[in-house]
Amino acid sequence: MSTVAKQIEQSWRDDFPVFRESGVAYLDSASSAQKPQAVIDAMAGVMQTHYANIHRGLYDFSQKTTSAFEAARAKAAAFIGAASAEEVVFTRNATEGINLVAQSWGREHLKEGDEIILTGMEHHANIVPWQLLWKQMGVSIRTIPVRDDGTLDLEAFERMLTPRTKMVCAVHVSNALGTINDVKRLTYIAKDFYPDMKVLIDGAQGVVHQAVDVQDIGCDFYVYTGHKLYGPTGIGVLWGRAEVLESMPPYQGGGDMVEKVTFEHTTFKKPPARFEAGTPAIIEAIGLGAAIDYLNTIGIDAIAAHEQALLAYGMERLADIDGLTFYGNAPQKAGIISFTADWGHPSDIGMILDQCGVAVRTGHHCCQPVMERFDIDATVRASLGLYSSAADLDALVAGLRKAKDLLG
Ligand code: ALA
Repeated sequence: MSTVAKQIEQSWRDDFPVFRESGVAYLDSASSAQKPQAVIDAMAGVMQTHYANIHRGLYDFSQKTTSAFEAARAKAAAFIGAASAEEVVFTRNATEGINLVAQSWGREHLKEGDEIILTGMEHHANIVPWQLLWKQMGVSIRTIPVRDDGTLDLEAFERMLTPRTKMVCAVHVSNALGTINDVKRLTYIAKDFYPDMKVLIDGAQGVVHQAVDVQDIGCDFYVYTGHKLYGPTGIGVLWGRAEVLESMPPYQGGGDMVEKVTFEHTTFKKPPARFEAGTPAIIEAIGLGAAIDYLNTIGIDAIAAHEQALLAYGMERLADIDGLTFYGNAPQKAGIISFTADWGHPSDIGMILDQCGVAVRTGHHCCQPVMERFDIDATVRASLGLYSSAADLDALVAGLRKAKDLLG
């Protein structure tokens, strides 16, 4: 068997109990990934053996659960090359991380007339929080153009920078196009223009498909979410450079983020506790830690090689189907295949695929501006995960043939 064929066949599918129950060709991992037994066991394990609230109890259960929660923070930090666990704030998801930065760093450090630059391929999660700030403070928003192949026009970005630009926010891997953006170069351009420029990277898809090192990228903030990383929902990570987090006021107030409270005045803990008001998602954080352990055991590079081999296989097979247009043809691209068909609307195609046992996402993928850029309202999106197989893509091709017969 050739190396490529071996990579296609290599799959860690047996680690995911859902596939023992169902033969579904699950091609919607960019939306949310399935969960391995290791994650399910870790979450059930804490509830079965020593569950308690954290940071509050002197008794054994609380101490054990606190240790497991803080160990998960260290794993979440090491996974992206952070300098220390204290630079990781647990949030609900990537979206909450971005909102936290906008409302805390943004309101503290920006003023009316300052500019924020986004890319033209952002998810709504990295657009709307900045628009809220625009309405609240009068900052302005500009966007880096997207080229026809789905890459960013970084020369245009260089020309857009002005002394008013204070922040740049970019998606690492586009959930709609699959483009892997050169966020290290983007960060270099921003900081070369103005060293104190802040750069936030939305890594919701970024951490899933490749190794990430935030110190190598050089950014100030990096957000990701547990549920796309084979972990649970309800848990996300905001990484911030220590001195930047230190300069930020609390985002929400409540228990566990304070040093001293009177009715007149409150003093706050240092980050990350300052940003984690109330009882956090304890079991979910431990589940995320287990997902990271699981991925580290396999190796993110092995997962990337598997997905790249499958992406090439899928593109080759899909070329046999007439009338498809693909969006996102960047040279550096993750396992996300987005397309339209001249013989049917994505919603109709998605429903027929479901009847064929193929799960894809159809629609605008929470990226309406990039859909508008390509003059479409929706695509069919097949997205790959570490458990994806050639058989899943064969099922997609067979389902599309059926859809074409019915709709064409
Ligand atoms: N952002 C998720 C997706 O791309 C939900 O489907």
